[in-house]
Amino acid sequence: MEALEAIMSRRSIRKYTDKKIPEETIKTLLEAAMNAPSAHNKQPWHFIVVDDRETLYKVPEFHNYSKMLEQASHAIVVLADTEIQNTDFWIHDTSASTENILIAANALGLGAVWLGVHPHENLMSEVKKLFNVPENVTPLGIISLGYPAEEKPPRENYNEERVHRNKW
Ligand SMILES: Cc1cc2nc3c(=O)[nH]c(=O)nc-3n(C[C@H](O)[C@H](O)[C@H](O)COP(=O)(O)O)c2cc1C
Repeated sequence: MEALEAIMSRRSIRKYTDKKIPEETIKTLLEAAMNAPSAHNKQPWHFIVVDDRETLYKVPEFHNYSKMLEQASHAIVVLADTEIQNTDFWIHDTSASTENILIAANALGLGAVWLGVHPHENLMSEVKKLFNVPENVTPLGIISLGYPAEEKPPRENYNEERVHRNKW
């Protein structure tokens, strides 16, 4: 799929078939994630690839909008080492890598959805506990992934009123 088409047709996909995503496809998603821009090129990101069913079932016990993980082939937890990137830029860096995964997933015929964790302290602390995350590492979010069992039309979000030229 062409890059622009992959961006423009991306939607949050929350229903999946039983088919498991192959390891080499997960590797491609992680390569896309790590090719994101980052402030001072610090690349503070870490990723936890999750396919353990018991763990996938545990997330919705504390995260109210993550039930789709029960059907997901994989989840990728996106985190940052805040000693490597010690300003809020870690949020921007890991958001860019998350978006790269979402677009790459769409381009590869997968369905994905971004599940917010940061800045909710309770969710961050539950994620850290469940995935045994060290002190200096902070979770941004979780990406739920699988082969799509729902189809959604592209959005048409473009809004001329939000575009300003030269000055506000
Ligand atoms: C920071 C962030 C957090 C989100 N958290 C959740 C979530 O917890 N659960 C969920 O189902 N979708 C979540 N979403 C997906 C949004 O609901 C979705 O992107 C939005 O409704 C627009 O739909 P679209 O992605 O299909 O264009 C999140 C998206 C972002 C960017």
